[in-house]
This record gives sequence, structure tokens and C-alpha cells, in this order.
Amino acid sequence: MQSVESKILYNDRLAEGYYRLGLSWKTPEVKAGHFVMLRVSDGMDPLLRRPFGVLRLIGAKGKASRGTGIELLYRVVGRGTGILSAKRPGETLGILGPLGNGFPVPDKGQKVIMVTGGMGIVPLHMLAQRLGQGTLLFGARSKKETFLLEDFKGLGLKIKTATEDGSAGAKGLVTALLAKELAPECVVYACGPMGMLKAVSRLCAAEGVKCFVSLERSMACGIGVCLGCAVRTINHEARENRNYKMVCSDGPVFDSRDIDWELL
Ligand SMILES: Cc1cc2nc3c(=O)[nH]c(=O)nc-3n(C[C@H](O)[C@H](O)[C@H](O)COP(=O)(O)OP(=O)(O)OC[C@H]3O[C@@H](n4cnc5c(N)ncnc54)[C@H](O)[C@@H]3O)c2cc1C
Ligand code: FES
Repeated sequence: MQSVESKILYNDRLAEGYYRLGLSWKTPEVKAGHFVMLRVSDGMDPLLRRPFGVLRLIGAKGKASRGTGIELLYRVVGRGTGILSAKRPGETLGILGPLGNGFPVPDKGQKVIMVTGGMGIVPLHMLAQRLGQGTLLFGARSKKETFLLEDFKGLGLKIKTATEDGSAGAKGLVTALLAKELAPECVVYACGPMGMLKAVSRLCAAEGVKCFVSLERSMACGIGVCLGCAVRTINHEARENRNYKMVCSDGPVFDSRDIDWELL
């Protein structure tokens, strides 16, 4: 883990409220599923860093000609992300990271399915880049959010979309797509809203399919100190063995069988 002062390489607006942020960082040893904590302000407001997944590493070629470092994708939801959206290239931000455990690699012969919705798509990008195969199931409210899939084109994935209003792909929830795809030889990686993760976990458990979920909780420290991001877990082999784990330092990726979904 490093604490670095990073220069903003770009902070491009993609659509209303969505931004792509390039940050300089010389040697980020980032794995798929890692995240970083960003200090978006030098002052006291907001005091706490904000957590963001890493979309990809940027290097010395192509788009990366703008610099070497990491690229993030974020949605403006409040004070911190609002401040971030006003930042300009050349300004600096504090990064703490890489943090968390990242996704485990699939076993040989396993068929990879990634399930996501909204900004949950971010940590799956680096996994898709590294694996170069698999099926991506993307759920959105409407066609408007499907621009988030642009980064996944050309990565060798089969992409299927479900929208709640039917304006793109199948009409309905992404879990309906998953139910059709699941087979015993699959491994599922999921990140997105908690309701979606619960449903994905339930489906996978019913089919006996291994599933890894990347959880999001409010995070104050990001390093296992404040205990603010605790989730109740169950050792799935000895069902009664309940325990609390920190999403930031024990996760954010967990075997879905180890999460006590009743409390989330
Ligand atoms: C491990 C991890 C990785 C993340 N990766 C990304 C990412 O790649 N891109 C991205 O855009 N966001 C990501 N997030 C969410 C991001 O951290 C929050 O959106 C951000 O901290 C909000 O800060 P704020 O000051 O703008 O909003 P706040 O003022 O803190 O909150 C404003 C409103 O947004 C709500 N809010 C806070 N967090 C979230 C959330 N996670 N989802 C939806 N609503 C929320 C609050 O409940 C509140 O109503 C990630 C979160 C975690 C824990
Ligand atoms: S955010 Fe502080 S312990 Fe996880």
C-alpha cells in the first residue's frame, strides 16, 4: 500500500454526472478488484477520503500517452464526488492504495460469468482485461446507462444487457439473464447494488455455483482501523460460526457463501 500525491491527467465528463479520471502514479501494483481511497479536498470538507475501484492501469501508449497511472470511472452522488468533478488536469489528489484483496482467478476450465449493474462495472473491467474471455451480464434502468459498456468492447467477452424499461437488451432484471446462463461449470463474479448481489448469491447457491461478490460499504479509513465497514459473515462450511469482517481489509471481494445476507 502506498500513500502518494498524484497529478490529475484528465477528468473527462462522459455523460451527465459520470466522469473518467486519469491519475498519475508511477508504479501502481494494482490487481483486479483492488480499490483506492482518494482525498478529494485539501481542507476539512469533506474530511474523509472516498473509495473508488480502479477501472484500468494506464501506461505509456495510446490514451495513456497522457501519462502513466490509473484510470477511475465515477458517478457524482454527493459532496465528495461533486468536488472531484470540478477538478482540472494538473491539480493534485492524495491516493491511498492499492487496497483490498481483489478477485481470485478462475479454476482451469471454469466458465466465467460477470454480473453487474451501475458503477459495479468498474472493478470487473480489469478482471475482464486480464481474463480476455467470459460473459458479461449488465443490468441498467434504461439504455442511457449502457454507455458504461463502451470500455468492455473489444475485450473478447460476450455481452448481454437487461434494462428495467426494455429500452436496450432484454426487458427486466439482470438476474433473469443469469438464471439462463448458469451451469455447474460456471464461476460468477458480481459487483453492483446490494439487492442485485443478494439475488445473484441466492441463484448461485441454488445451482451450487461458486460466486465471488465485491461489496460496497461506506468507508472512513479503508484500512481496517475504524471498523465502520463491518459485515457479518458465516463460515459456509461450519454454518454457525458467525463473525464480523471488514469490507475494506478482508474484502471487498468475498465468497458469496460467507456473507450473512440476512443482515444486508
Ligand atoms: C470499495 C468501493 C469501491 C467504489 N468504487 C466506485 C467507483 O468505481 N465509482 C463510483 O462512482 N463509486 C464507487 N464507489 C462509491 C463511492 O465511494 C461513493 O459514491 C462516494 O464515496 C460518495 O461520496 P460523496 O461525498 O460524493 O457522497 P456522500 O456525500 O458521501 O453521499 C451522498 C449520497 O450518496 C450515497 N452514496 C454513498 N455511497 C454510495 C454508493 N456506494 N452508491 C450509491 N450511493 C452512495 C449516500 O448514501 C448519500 O445519500 C465505491 C465504493 C466502495 C466502498
Ligand atoms: S473503512 Fe475503516 S475499517 Fe473499513
